[in-house]
Amino acid sequence: MNLFDNIGHCRHFLSPWKSLRQCPFCLYAFFAIMSRPYYLLEETRLRKNLSLIKSVAEHTGAEFILAFKAFALWKTFPIFREYISHTTASSLHEAMLAFHEFGTKAHTYSPAYEEDTFDQVAACSSHLTFNSLSQFERFLPRLHQMGNSAPSVGLRINPEYSEIETELYNPCAPGSRFGVLSDELPDELPAAIEGFHCHCHCESSAENLARTLVHLEERFGRWLPRLKWLNLGGGHLLTREGYHVALLEETLLGLRRRYPNLQIILEPGSAFGWQTGSLFAQVVDVVCHRGVSTAILNVSFTCHMPDCLEMPYQPAVRGAASVEDSEAKNPKEGDFVYRLGGNSCLSGDYMGAWRFDHPLQVGEEVEFLDMLHYTNVKTTQFNGITLPDIRLLKQNGEVEVLRRFTYEDYRDLMD
Ligand SMILES: Cc1ncc(COP(=O)(O)O)c(C=O)c1O
Repeated sequence: MNLFDNIGHCRHFLSPWKSLRQCPFCLYAFFAIMSRPYYLLEETRLRKNLSLIKSVAEHTGAEFILAFKAFALWKTFPIFREYISHTTASSLHEAMLAFHEFGTKAHTYSPAYEEDTFDQVAACSSHLTFNSLSQFERFLPRLHQMGNSAPSVGLRINPEYSEIETELYNPCAPGSRFGVLSDELPDELPAAIEGFHCHCHCESSAENLARTLVHLEERFGRWLPRLKWLNLGGGHLLTREGYHVALLEETLLGLRRRYPNLQIILEPGSAFGWQTGSLFAQVVDVVCHRGVSTAILNVSFTCHMPDCLEMPYQPAVRGAASVEDSEAKNPKEGDFVYRLGGNSCLSGDYMGAWRFDHPLQVGEEVEFLDMLHYTNVKTTQFNGITLPDIRLLKQNGEVEVLRRFTYEDYRDLMD
């Protein structure tokens, strides 16, 4: 699909033509396209991340796989396949995406597999990690029935150590439902368990990983010599500027030296999509109440950038400086400080505040930076708000529309 496909019929009643392709002078249709919000993924930036990840994999012998929970724009998988060979799934649909669209079986982990879908999940998986020993025992006979095509079995472990500060993203918080604790494991692991999986990072550094490994080995080291693989989960943000890539490589090489029997796997998501593109929106109205100015946009934080509210964090906006919301409440004379508001009815669907260098106008574009991970995998159509287009800026400068959403997409959610 290119930019001008799928715009429907031109409703410019003066025009005898039917579509923009046939009606190049129809400004109505042209502006209808130009005013849509859209995510723009930049191929050049994506390839830069992929090249770095591939080079670390080559230097260390560790395998890096893509976590779909952060990024699953499957029309870009041909690009990914030039750099990596596998992906990780957490559900039946992600496992199917791995198998059918990426073209290789998934490394799958789910907090709890379900009776009716387990066989399908297993059929799409090369590695399958259980979250508990009870799930392992319940489903092991089903894997035996698969014979040689059964996935390699792993167990998620919880080292009860994590440097993640945001509770929402801390899988090792006391009482967490994730993973088996070291004192719950038998001295002799069941023979069918071939790997451990441990996820305890989020936008973390190489130093975080090095410190976490000390705890992991302290608690689980005695089982490692007899396993085949160790998956160190996601949250390794090696593509962030300033990340100590050399330390990551050194840490992974050290781990491999200590346990030459282990295939080391890392499954970041954010690191692949990090800084690869923006969400472009437009100002639809500007309202000012009791001195607080809010530019209402044709996008929504809750629908299109949910991590901003969940995490929470204030995204960067091109050409504007992040300031405290108190500055929106008490703006200084001549300051252009705005809250940005989503176009949903949720009262909390706004963020504040940003200082612009000019007064915002209706129709003006607002660009939210770094909006290609944990966005389009999490979007909702709450309030029937149209989802932004997903567009790809190719290396040759062409823009391809990967997806455009319509009324039918909303209607069919409740079909
Ligand atoms: C089990 C597991 N693997 C991988 C990831 C990907 O993490 P990130 O996108 O932070 O690299 C997550 C994120 O929550 C996860 O829970």
